Amino acid sequence: MSTTFPDGFLWGAATAAYQIEGAAHEDGRGRSIWDDFAHTPGRTRDGDTGDVATDHYHRWREDVALLRELGVGAYRLSISWPRVQPGGRGALNPAGVTFYTDLLDELRAAGIAPVVTLYHWDLPSELEAAGGWANRETAYAFADYARAMARALGDRVAVWTTLNEPWCTAFLGYASGVHAPGRTDPAAALAAAHHLTLAHGLATVAIREELGQETQVSIALNLHVTRPADPENLADLAAAHEVDLVGNHVFLGPLLDGSYPIELRELTRDLTDAAFVQPGDLHLIRQRIDVLGVNFYSTSYVRRRTADAPGAAGSGGHGDGAASPWVGLDDVEFLPPTGPTTAMGWNIEPAGLYELLTALDNAYEGLPLMVTENGAAFEDVPGPDGVVHDAERTDYLRRHIAEVGRAIADGADVRGYFAWSFLDNFEWAHGYAKRFGLVRVDYDTLRRTPKDSARWYAELARTGRLPA
Ligand code: NOJ
Repeated sequence: MSTTFPDGFLWGAATAAYQIEGAAHEDGRGRSIWDDFAHTPGRTRDGDTGDVATDHYHRWREDVALLRELGVGAYRLSISWPRVQPGGRGALNPAGVTFYTDLLDELRAAGIAPVVTLYHWDLPSELEAAGGWANRETAYAFADYARAMARALGDRVAVWTTLNEPWCTAFLGYASGVHAPGRTDPAAALAAAHHLTLAHGLATVAIREELGQETQVSIALNLHVTRPADPENLADLAAAHEVDLVGNHVFLGPLLDGSYPIELRELTRDLTDAAFVQPGDLHLIRQRIDVLGVNFYSTSYVRRRTADAPGAAGSGGHGDGAASPWVGLDDVEFLPPTGPTTAMGWNIEPAGLYELLTALDNAYEGLPLMVTENGAAFEDVPGPDGVVHDAERTDYLRRHIAEVGRAIADGADVRGYFAWSFLDNFEWAHGYAKRFGLVRVDYDTLRRTPKDSARWYAELARTGRLPA
């Protein structure tokens, strides 16, 4: 049985500034926490940095032409805050702004709707020096930056996404420390999580003040689909529920319910008094979300750690030996995957995407959803013809997209799907070793070559029909 997607369903591909742009020292760009982190020995694989990345900053016209070949209706990109506003405050950098206005104009001329993320992890270094996301002031600085971008870019942007995966920013950045800024302070991570949602609320207000109340605003979350190791075991069920609280409701609560779940406050009581939640915040954070971005890759299995099986809390697949990002969950253990995995070591379980989309649809009736990231890294090897014949990636995409179709058939209002990623790129702490692209990048020549999966995806985007 084939699946036909609704008219107007957006087929897209996604990237992020630090992962593709390069040109780290050009045209007045400031520094970000990822420049600092990647240049700190031992933080990224082989000391890889985003200094050059895919050199998109110089090759953007070629890249827009490739996107056009892919036939996508939308492209999700992010703006480098330090490129447009070095230091994170005050005057804009005209050359940085011009880069994005030119890029957005070219996309629109190609008939591709730009979905623009304002924050995909590259905080200006100066703001981190003042406390980063653990400091409430960063939320106000972000809102000023969002307002300035709304003024500068205006209606070139189809959908504004305030933040990408704030869970990673807060908990990988400030608790486990495997992402920039590399801090390991659970209380700071919880403060950061709150300040991120506050930043989202303030920025949403600012963007709509500048561009009109109808302006489309979203946020992209990496929601965790977590299963109990033994579904009959109450302790394991409780462990999975706790991950849902610390991984999902820490954001869904303030963003969509207007409150934090009481159980989350109880779980984290020993770590923080939550004084960072100030009067009026929860009202401010809960702005209308026109479409909720869902980034999905994998599922995980957890169990309650018993007294006779001690050890460090599971890292949930985010770096061995690092501190846990799962603050307040010392007795929750993440099990290693047992089934097929991607090159990231993440298990492949497409049904998780269906469950996530339908669960969101049930919990927040009528909330429009968009899969803003889904994709996989595999050990790509170009064939003698120079092309990567990545049947595994195509299979991963096909099976996940089928689950999106199933969620739509069952009533979820899913508006689009964005493959991660358009190009191979800098995979954060994993450097260039992990390739997620539909298009291969040869890092010696920076040449782009579409993989088989790109051709398959182009056909899907053209027909809107997933063959059986
Ligand atoms: C989530 C992030 O948003 C993106 O930057 C990253 O490359 C992918 N997932 C793959 O890990």
